Amino acid sequence: MQRPKRPKDVSARRHDLFDAALRTFVPGRLVDLGAGHGGFSLRAARAGWNVTAIDARDERFPKDDAVTWVRQDVREADLSGYDLILCLGLWYHLTVDDQLDLLKRMSGTPVILDTHLATEQPTHDLSDPVEERGYSGRFYAEKGWWNRATASWNNTASFWPTPESFYRMLAEYGYPAVFAGTPWVTTDRTFFICTPAVANR
Ligand SMILES: C[S@@+](CC[C@H](N)C(=O)[O-])C[C@H]1O[C@@H](n2cnc3c(N)ncnc32)[C@H](O)[C@@H]1O
Repeated sequence: MQRPKRPKDVSARRHDLFDAALRTFVPGRLVDLGAGHGGFSLRAARAGWNVTAIDARDERFPKDDAVTWVRQDVREADLSGYDLILCLGLWYHLTVDDQLDLLKRMSGTPVILDTHLATEQPTHDLSDPVEERGYSGRFYAEKGWWNRATASWNNTASFWPTPESFYRMLAEYGYPAVFAGTPWVTTDRTFFICTPAVANR
C-alpha cells in the first residue's frame, strides 16, 4: 500500500480523513482536546459545529471568535455535555494512566481520535516493548517538552500502545466499535472513529 511520507502529504491526508470522519456526525457541541494551532477546531466550526478548543498552551490559538478557546490541561477538563470529542495528535503525548483516565471521562460520547501507535513500522524512535497496566506498547521520550509547542504537558515519557492493545483498551473502556481510516496517514498513524457502547443521551 502506498502511504504518504512527506509532511505536506501528511497534513493533506489528515485533513481528508478528518473531514470525512466529521461528516458522519450531525453538527452539535464539540470539544477539541489538545487543539494546538486550532486548525481542526476551525474546520469543525466552519462545518456548523459549536466548538470549544482546549490546550495546555494557548500561544498557537488563532484570534478567531468562531471557537471558544480554553487554556487548560485536558486531565482537568470537564468533558460532559458534548455530542462529539476530538482527540487529534494528543493521545501519543499521554501516559497510559492519563489515556485510561481520559477514556473513562469520554465514555458515552463518540470520539474522533488521531494517533500514532506502536506498529511494526514506527516513524519515531521508541523504547523497547513494554507492558503497562496490562497493555503492550512502547515509550516515546518527550525530550524538551517544556519548550516545544507540540509536545506533552508535564510528562517526560508517553505511551504508544500496539494496535491490538489500543483496540482492547478502547473496548474495555466503553468503545467496542472502532472504525479506522484507511489508507493510514503514515505507517503508524491514522484517524479512528470510536463509537460508544452506550450513548450519553
Ligand atoms: C501534536 S499537537 C496536536 C495539535 C492538533 N490537535 C493537531 O492534531 O494538529 C499536541 C497538542 O497537545 C497539547 N497537549 C499535550 N498534552 C496536553 C495536556 N495534558 N493538556 C492539554 N493540552 C495538551 C500540546 O500543547 C499541543 O498543542
